[in-house]
Amino acid sequence: MDGKPIGVFDSGVGGLTVAGEIMKQLPDESLLYFGDTARFPYGSRGADELKRFAFEIVSFLQCEGVKMVVIACNSASSAALTLAQAHFDIPILGVIEPGARAAVQATRNRRIGVVGTQATISSGAYDRAIHTLDAGAKVFSQACPDLADFVERGVVTGEKARRIVGRYLESLISAGVDTLILGCTHYPLLSEVIGEIMGKDVRLVSSAEEAAREVREILTCRGHLRKEKSSPTYRFLSTGDESKFLRLGRRFLGREIKRVEKVSLGTEVAL
Ligand code: DGL
Repeated sequence: MDGKPIGVFDSGVGGLTVAGEIMKQLPDESLLYFGDTARFPYGSRGADELKRFAFEIVSFLQCEGVKMVVIACNSASSAALTLAQAHFDIPILGVIEPGARAAVQATRNRRIGVVGTQATISSGAYDRAIHTLDAGAKVFSQACPDLADFVERGVVTGEKARRIVGRYLESLISAGVDTLILGCTHYPLLSEVIGEIMGKDVRLVSSAEEAAREVREILTCRGHLRKEKSSPTYRFLSTGDESKFLRLGRRFLGREIKRVEKVSLGTEVAL
């Protein structure tokens, strides 16, 4: 079991921010990354569709022999995590709880902002996760429907990025949040602009670090950390265009990706 890879999936390349953090914190672990780029974006889709996609992908990864799955996508985590955990017999971790935990630990005034896709914000998943940890915290959410697309197009710095991001952050600045959850895998790439607009006193929280820490905890508790001395293997799968994945993926992962394998999902999974 311990030599098997960790499965990580996302609607596209965004989850590579989480994969990169796992590689950093668990350098001996092998990884199998699945980017559902053909169906990106997930953020404008309904909960039932996202559940179906998540079940298809977790089934696929399980057949590939992963020892656990990280749903490294806020939209999919918010719609499908609980159901997937109940259905599959391998550990499954989402990114909502790790982000909520990091924010509750970071805030001083207990006013927490959340930015994410329409699917993530409408699900109320962050509100629930934060209130489970601190029922008295005040949560202020803002959906940013087109922001992930802008990031994919490379709009991450400069005046245009500041204008788009600034519009979304207005209500959160007025609400006086001291902590802001970047509740979408793409937003860490906008950290500089978001940080400038929110001001230096607002802490920006992304799930990646905390999620990687929880992966380590899960594998340690189960005795499933990889013990082999050989180098770990990293495989990258994509349902869409491989060259686009390669080009964008390097930016999100922060390191070279040598090869991407194109895959298609055949199996419909009954919910
Ligand atoms: N991975 C998605 C998320 O975190 C990125 C955005 C999208 O697919 O719409 O919500």
